[in-house]
Amino acid sequence: MSASVPARREVVTLRPEITRALMDQTGLDDAALTRLVHAFYDQTRRDPLLGPIFAERISDWGPHLDRMVAFWSSVALMTGRYHGSPMRAHLSLPVEKAHFDRWLDLFSQTARETCPPEGAAHMIERAERIAASIHGNIIDRRDGYGCSSTPPDLRLA
Ligand code: HEM
Repeated sequence: MSASVPARREVVTLRPEITRALMDQTGLDDAALTRLVHAFYDQTRRDPLLGPIFAERISDWGPHLDRMVAFWSSVALMTGRYHGSPMRAHLSLPVEKAHFDRWLDLFSQTARETCPPEGAAHMIERAERIAASIHGNIIDRRDGYGCSSTPPDLRLA
């Protein structure tokens, strides 16, 4: 292969060594993340519980899907591609524990169908942690802790 031809699994990253090590450990790359994100939102949009919440807020799916691939690339492969605020995006949504449970069920199922086993486990573990964090933040806000000047992730207990 000539030096000018990109390697098949090349991704854009700010931390090439870490990203390469994570890709090797998990078998994940841009193509796998894109497959997972697109398949997941195909399911989510058709889901009776979650679909209406997305339909209410997203009319142009292209940018949202691109954003979500960048988000998972940052989370799973530490590429630094995502710049946004997932916490803020969810604070005003009409969601309860049942919505997060359903989201995680669909995500886990889709990850197992679209990624190699190590990659699926890696994605599911991170999705569970982030979902718990977003949900916890929403509950805190509803209970009134959102008035505190201390960010939720810095408060004890
Ligand atoms: C209860 C389940 C969930 C629902 C109904 C939901 C719904 C949404 C909606 C409607 C948006 C678009 C917000 C807007 O642009 O106005 C959004 C954005 C987003 N969601 Fe979720 N979400 C859920 C759970 C999660 C979880 C568990 C994660 C991560 C593991 C996540 C990650 C994101 C990210 C990264 C964005 C983009 C934020 C931005 O940069 O604008 N979501 N979500």
